[in-house]
Formats: sequence, C-alpha cells, structure tokens
Amino acid sequence: MIYFDNSATTKPHPEVLESFHKAALNYYANPSSIHQLGGEAEQLLSGARRQAASLLGVHEDEIVFTSGGTEGNNLAIKGIALEHQNRGKHIITSQIEHPSVLETCKSLESMGFEVTYIPVNQYGQVRSKDVEKAIRSDTILISIMQVNSELGTIQPVEEIGEIAKKHPKLFYHVDHVQGLGKLPLNFGKSGIDLCTMSGHKIHGLKGTGILYVKKGTKLHPLFHGGGQERDQRSGTENLAGAVAMVKAMRLIFEEQKNSRHHLENLSRKIKNSLKEDRRVRINSPEDSAPHIVNISVPGYKPEVIIHALGERGIFISTKSACSSKQSDESAVLAACGLHSKYTRSGLRISVSYTNTEDEADMFCSVFKEVLDELNEVMG
Ligand SMILES: Cc1ncc(COP(=O)(O)O)c(C=O)c1O
Repeated sequence: MIYFDNSATTKPHPEVLESFHKAALNYYANPSSIHQLGGEAEQLLSGARRQAASLLGVHEDEIVFTSGGTEGNNLAIKGIALEHQNRGKHIITSQIEHPSVLETCKSLESMGFEVTYIPVNQYGQVRSKDVEKAIRSDTILISIMQVNSELGTIQPVEEIGEIAKKHPKLFYHVDHVQGLGKLPLNFGKSGIDLCTMSGHKIHGLKGTGILYVKKGTKLHPLFHGGGQERDQRSGTENLAGAVAMVKAMRLIFEEQKNSRHHLENLSRKIKNSLKEDRRVRINSPEDSAPHIVNISVPGYKPEVIIHALGERGIFISTKSACSSKQSDESAVLAACGLHSKYTRSGLRISVSYTNTEDEADMFCSVFKEVLDELNEVMG
C-alpha cells in the first residue's frame, strides 16, 4: 500500500496514540474541578500549553487548543470581525484559500462585511503588492494561507506580515495548516497576530489543533460557556487531545530538522518522472512546498485514475473540496487561469516523512502503466 494523500490527512504516529491513551485514561478529571484529580489534569494541560508555546517560540498565553484547522480559521476570522467591527468591516483574503476561510468570509459578507479576494498568478501565487494595494482605512483583517493545500504554492506570508506591521489597526491571520512541520514560520517576527494549525495533518489526531493568538488580540468567541481557554473557547478541554497535539508537533519538528531534504527528494523524483510524460501537466510551481505535487492529465477523468490506482493499492486525491459552481472543476486551478481541460483533470500527490524513495519510484511506474491502460480502453 502506498499512501500519498498526506495533505488530506496523515496516519497517527504510534507515540501520539500512546500519549493520548495515557492522558485519557489517567487524567480524565475535568481540569476545572477543584479536587486533587482536577488539579492534576489542570497541571497536565498547563504543561502541554507550555510545551506548545516553547516549540512554537511564543508565550503560553498565546496558545488556544482547538478542534483543528476549520475551527481555528473560523475563530480567527469571525473572532476578529465580530469583535472589531466598530473599527471597520473590510477583510482581505485570497481567491484560493481553504473553504474554511472562504466560506467564513462569505458568511461575514452576508452579515454586512466586505471582503476583497486577491487574485493569484498561474502558479497560485499572491503578490504582496496586491495585498498592500487592497488595504483601506476600514480594513480590519488580512487572512492568507502559508501553503496552498491543492498546489503546494508557498505564499509570501512574511512579506505580507511586513506590510501588515505598517497598519497597526488591522490584524494578520495565517493559515499554517499545510505548512506546519514542513516549512519554518517565525511567529514573533512575522507580524502575525493569529495562526491556525491542525493536528491530523502532522501525524496527530483528528479533532485536535492550535490557534496562536498574539497577546493583546481580542476575539469574539465562537462558543460561549464556562470561559475555558481564557474565554476564547468555552467547553471542557480535550486534555488528551491537547497532549496528543503537542506530541505530534514535537515529533514533526524533529523530522523537519533531521529529514528536511527527504520530502524534497520524494517530490522531485515524482515531478521529474511525470515531467517526461507528455500526457501530464505539472501545475505546482518549481519551488512549491516539498510535500505537494499537483498535476493535470487532460482527457482523463481524475476519479477514473484514482480508482485505477486504488485497485493497485496506491492512494492519491483530486482537488480538495471546492466552491466552484462546476463541481467537477478545481476552483484553485480555475483561479490560476488554467484551461478547463486542466481544471477538470487535477490530481494531488502528497507525501510525508514516512514515505520512501522506493514508494515514489513504484508510484511513478504504476502511474504510467495506469495511463497506458486507460489510453487503450479509451482509444
Ligand atoms: C490549508 C488548510 N486549512 C484548513 C484546513 C482544515 O483543517 P481541519 O481538517 O483540521 O479542519 C485544511 C484541511 O485540509 C487545509 O488544508
């Protein structure tokens, strides 16, 4: 079996599961309970928060444990918009953000906010100058992802951060879900006020995540209740989930440090092999994030290729969920201005540190075989 759909989700690391299991079994008390067991749970939660903060190079009060990327993005964007609407009602984002950003922005539009969706070039790149030009006196938020989930395109989030710094009235949010553990991001220096991370993309668990909220940034909460997470996210804490998230981060950062070139080698191998095949168009830019290769195979239905690969034990994906009117078209590839023969035939191969070069070789040869076979059937 070759699993090359790691941008959709990853296999949990056994050590993460072990940490979850131990915490869930031994620290089941409610951290808010005032008895001894509650105190012990509270201590474990504080420890997890401290460790998360130290791994990210931020202050422990800046960590909000969430249920993942969708919640983090919703909390950051709605939280800022609803809390600071008296300053202005204009938001800037890009045309190719994850649906958890785009749909959140659309819902705010229906509530009277105005959103500028910055266009991208043929590789899905946002120009920081376009972001700068879009800033108005009533802009309260810029939200840009670090790595596009479909193409792997890296956005100039640090450059945009420099621009954001010049406008102290607005907040800057970065969706770091696809970049975490693959690309560095200096929170402190990048002018970032809010940053979304998700556990299940880094061999952690579904339903776990962190939203970084810079000290002094006030958010309107999505959930009201007992005031947990410093009033930013009410609800009894998912203590074992928080512990598992921190463990997954520690492990992925070790991989990032020690096996930095491994992902690059895997995706280069795949890109170089597919480049030679005239039936394939590589959509990802040369300097994309090292774990995502996006291609189009015009004339072939992506589902048919995915099915044929699946029969041979190889798992990749099509576009991620999209907001395009034409459901078989990738909204991201369409925003890049690609012809419909490419936007309708997009495939994403996404690797992880656990994949091997042999798997990449095997994938490339099976992929060619599959196209040859389908060619014969269609021919
Ligand atoms: C860039 C990006 N942001 C946000 C999300 C949503 O994360 P989650 O699945 O943890 O809700 C994803 C998931 O695919 C993503 O790729």
